[in-house]
Amino acid sequence: MEALRNFFLPPAKTAVAEQYDTLFWFVHISSLVVTIGIVVAIIYFIIKYRRKSENDVTPVITHNNKLEVTWSVIPLIITLVLFGWGFQTYIDMTKAPTDAYEVNVTAQKWLWRFQYKSGASTTNELHVPAGRPVKLIMQSQDVIHSFFVPDFRIKQDVIPGRYTEAWFQAREPGESIVFCTEYCGTDHSNMLAKVIVHEPEEFAQWLEDNSGAATKPTDLAPADWGEQLVQQNACATCHSTDGTELTGPTWQGTFGSEEQLADGSTVTVDENYIRESILNPNAKIVQGYGQVMPSYQGQLNDEQINAIIEYIKTLK
Ligand code: CUA
Repeated sequence: MEALRNFFLPPAKTAVAEQYDTLFWFVHISSLVVTIGIVVAIIYFIIKYRRKSENDVTPVITHNNKLEVTWSVIPLIITLVLFGWGFQTYIDMTKAPTDAYEVNVTAQKWLWRFQYKSGASTTNELHVPAGRPVKLIMQSQDVIHSFFVPDFRIKQDVIPGRYTEAWFQAREPGESIVFCTEYCGTDHSNMLAKVIVHEPEEFAQWLEDNSGAATKPTDLAPADWGEQLVQQNACATCHSTDGTELTGPTWQGTFGSEEQLADGSTVTVDENYIRESILNPNAKIVQGYGQVMPSYQGQLNDEQINAIIEYIKTLK
């Protein structure tokens, strides 16, 4: 039974997900029963009413009130039950409890950023407490993305210029994967994140340890801060630091090298080139790569860009 339950969907990790699964199975099993009934009736009638001799004549039948009422009322009842049940489940999935813990979610090509009330912020990792409703207030910086957590059965479009919401209450500590389910460009399939569910006390500790991480740490060397910023902005989705070929050029050994550009010219990778590539990525495209990087204008300030340049310099 358990194996069958998880044949289509991963194990449900919230109460709403279980409610959703019950409805899902009801729809499938009732459809299966009706389909089998119809097929059996068709086969039975084909055999029973086949033409048995040359003078077989089809009798004239106009209607049968009893039969017609029966086959209209039964499906009507099933449809009404499905509507009521589905509507209730929809309301339960949409309306977050008022005591929910709120997290702001920002989607952009190709990462998820999470901001917590305490000031903490994370990229591609959503930390939440177990046993408490969590409400996500989501927006997009660029195109339409969609936030999908199969374990929780929640899927919600994330749209530029307006907020959309989703909520869940994870039962137990653990990890669940987040997919982007709206095609959003080259690295759509790599736009992944994790929901990390902690025990409540552990979550409180995590918040305390990570709050204030968004402001400049005074005790860090610029290159180390740069590495942190690179991680927070998920640059590694497209740029490797070990020479691996990804969507964008690798950063290993790039500083000081000559790059061949798509228009045939060459450029020396220096501070100005990196700065321009962060703020106006389409100004110079390295040969063999696409015009796919989003601009970080307004998202990274000069000091942060300096730190990232210092970090790239260390990648020999
Ligand atoms: Cu974001 Cu697909």
